[in-house]
Amino acid sequence: MTDTRDAATVERSLLDLAGALDAADPLHAHLDAFAEAPGVGAYLDGNSLGRPLKDAPEKLAAFVRDDWGTRLIRSWDEQWMALPMELGDRIGRVTLGAAPGQTVVADSTSVLIYKLMRAAATADPSRTELVIESGNFPTDRFMAEGVAAETGMSVRWIEPDPVLGVQIADVVAAVSERTALVSLSHVDYRSGALADMPGITTAVHEVGALMMWDLCHSAGVIPMQLDAWGVDMAVGCTYKYLNGGPGSPAFAYLRREHQGVLRQPIQGWWSAADIFAMGPQYAPAGDIRQLLSGTPPITSMLAMQGMLDLIEQASIEAIREKSLSLTDFAVRAYDEVLAPLGVRLLSTRDAALRGSHVTIGHPDFRAVTQRLWADGIIPDFRFPDGIRLGLSPLSTSYAETLTGVLAVRDALESHGR
Ligand SMILES: Cc1ncc(COP(=O)(O)O)c(C=O)c1O
Repeated sequence: MTDTRDAATVERSLLDLAGALDAADPLHAHLDAFAEAPGVGAYLDGNSLGRPLKDAPEKLAAFVRDDWGTRLIRSWDEQWMALPMELGDRIGRVTLGAAPGQTVVADSTSVLIYKLMRAAATADPSRTELVIESGNFPTDRFMAEGVAAETGMSVRWIEPDPVLGVQIADVVAAVSERTALVSLSHVDYRSGALADMPGITTAVHEVGALMMWDLCHSAGVIPMQLDAWGVDMAVGCTYKYLNGGPGSPAFAYLRREHQGVLRQPIQGWWSAADIFAMGPQYAPAGDIRQLLSGTPPITSMLAMQGMLDLIEQASIEAIREKSLSLTDFAVRAYDEVLAPLGVRLLSTRDAALRGSHVTIGHPDFRAVTQRLWADGIIPDFRFPDGIRLGLSPLSTSYAETLTGVLAVRDALESHGR
């Protein structure tokens, strides 16, 4: 049936729907926890950099004044030495389905990927292949190529469907008794496709290989059960849906049975069995601390703690519910407002198979995004012609999502004129 409604009627009905969804949203009150951004009409980039909480300035100031300024170096003993592990446990419990002692906060995602990939690559000398996918985030691919070059291994590439992402069958076809490690993203950074973590992990274990997941686009927004699903290792950012702020350190999960067995390559003093022994030889810690290398960035671990409180309060399940509904609403707004302008949908329509962003494509989107950013409407541009509408459930409303979609329409129309 052709939709004969005029543009104003379509817009009105979407505005009404957004209003009704916001009014019924059980997480609506949490929007108020985030700092205002003057001049920003819609922030749809929380999947790249989460917004700060309102109380972040006060907490940072208190940290400088008290923990650092007053307790000075005593704070290392009093609280900071343990923070990478304590915070890791908290991320594990609130978002990953991981029991304590298996998650740590350190470094950047890239560095942690390297450490774990390198450890997995050399675990069993009879295994000579790393399996990754061609559409994965550059750092994951570059690290795999680097580790392969360093260790004399080879990389086997999966070529997944660009919208649906890696399927179990793709993995089954790529793995064998030669596979040391399969490394994939839980949510594809471009399409938002959500991989079947338990199914793929099981398929990888069937050939005796290890499985690593990149959780950058799912940690804090999609419930998961790393322990129950048998995941060997995982890494993720804390500055996206965990709102840790620019450059906040990443987290790594290493299943307990691999600790003290796998060896990460950057064996700095913080990973030693006795940090302060200052002895002549290195012996690795037998627990999760072995993944550390040097002095952890304590100041950058502050902001994510407030967000973890909020996620725990809201519950990761309720956050996922809102994410499903928000992305559905974005797809509906796309259908009614952007599809008629020739914009392509680059994410799946099946909400259960996507993360918390929706990607749309149009040849003019690079210029359109520049225009939108100048006007305080902030989605995310991804080469070659994609806009990601990142919907961070605790900080994004339905009305804001619609504001963003309508602004894309307006910018696209005025660009064409
Ligand atoms: C999926 C994915 N993996 C890895 C990274 C790299 O993270 P970092 O820059 O913290 O090393 C990113 C960054 O956006 C990402 O989106």
